Amino acid sequence: MKLSRRLSSLKPSSTVAVMNKAKALTAQGVKVLNFSAGEPDFNSPEKAKRALIASVEANNTKYLPTAGDPETRKLLAELATSRNAIPACTPDHVLITCGVKMGLYLVAQGLFDVAAPGEPQQEFVLPVPSWVSFAPIAELAGAKVVPIETTAATGFKMTPQQLKAAITPRTRAVLINSPSNPCSTMYTPAELEALAAVIDEAARTIAPDLAVIADELYQHIVFGDTPFKAVGSIASIAPRVITVSGPGKSFAMTGWRIGWVITSGPGGKAFIDGLIKLQGQTVTAVPGFVLAGVRAALTECQADLDGFKKQFAERAEVMYSSLKAIPGLKLAKPEGAFYAFPDIGVYLGKSTPAGQKLSTAAEFATALLETKQVAVVPGEDFGGCGISCIRMSFACSTDQIKEGCRRLAEFVAELK
Ligand SMILES: Cc1ncc(COP(=O)(O)O)c(C=O)c1O
Repeated sequence: MKLSRRLSSLKPSSTVAVMNKAKALTAQGVKVLNFSAGEPDFNSPEKAKRALIASVEANNTKYLPTAGDPETRKLLAELATSRNAIPACTPDHVLITCGVKMGLYLVAQGLFDVAAPGEPQQEFVLPVPSWVSFAPIAELAGAKVVPIETTAATGFKMTPQQLKAAITPRTRAVLINSPSNPCSTMYTPAELEALAAVIDEAARTIAPDLAVIADELYQHIVFGDTPFKAVGSIASIAPRVITVSGPGKSFAMTGWRIGWVITSGPGGKAFIDGLIKLQGQTVTAVPGFVLAGVRAALTECQADLDGFKKQFAERAEVMYSSLKAIPGLKLAKPEGAFYAFPDIGVYLGKSTPAGQKLSTAAEFATALLETKQVAVVPGEDFGGCGISCIRMSFACSTDQIKEGCRRLAEFVAELK
């Protein structure tokens, strides 16, 4: 069966690949310490589960309106205004999607045109290292990815100068992901204001259709000194900000597959209307009974959220201090989300006791899994300096973090 060129060139998600390898070893009876998971190890909140079950029992099992039910859209619009200070946001500015990933897919299809013959591609400015699916989703929609290289030394954050240099008349969108996967660092409110000034200036001069995609999926998992600020709350750029988020990571509800896209103002409503057409021609709508549980999570489960956040803060501390103690590793302090992203470059080019040379982060991660049963995600697919990094999720117990870091320390100490 012949596969389209589009799908033949599409890379599978590398985070899923490592997770699958770790699971295969586990199935063979090997005890793997898994740091590859991009999801909390907690159970979904009890009240959310009960609300979902009650909704099924009340026979809420029919198709929903394409954008989601009015009650949940209203709640999300209210929260966008009251918690995130996004102006001019009504239920009509909210589209509920099957996970944030699907939300991003719809957004990319709504933003980018496939270049006509002889026409330049529209550009998507992406600070790297970044989550593995941003680039493929934009490329599938016809965009050319323009990476901005960041490093651990600057908290993996783009500067206003870098952003200014990257925007051209062809730029259609800029991505801001704070807190970030895989870096777990955050832009301060002042840094976001400075980036917004560049975006506003570019939109008024060279790139009038410039949009900002703000991925704020990790908004509630914040434990450092930097407060969260929604990009869409910055008045000068609010009408061009498309916010994507969801309950998956904060409320330990990844498998529920719910996300949302939020805009503001008249242009934002027209954009959402466009995405609704595509959702209507693809998934139709999300399951309605799931939304009953999501509403319960958003309104009744603050205590669960606080408990999760407290645990992530403790784990971040243990992970950071354990990795800092390993000679040669460079890393930024996690401030949000639940990842550490150490640079293991100093060990690349060395060999294992069995004589295997480790030239890449992928070879490093494979040897670590095979010899010490520690599963981490190699950083190559996150782009930029990720090429010499590994991602370790701390969505696991502090005991596992301590033991995993002990084994990692042992592994690198044995390299020659
Ligand atoms: C930054 C970021 N955006 C989006 C997603 C996708 O989220 P969902 O599981 O809701 O599709 C992830 C998942 O890891 C992520 O880390």
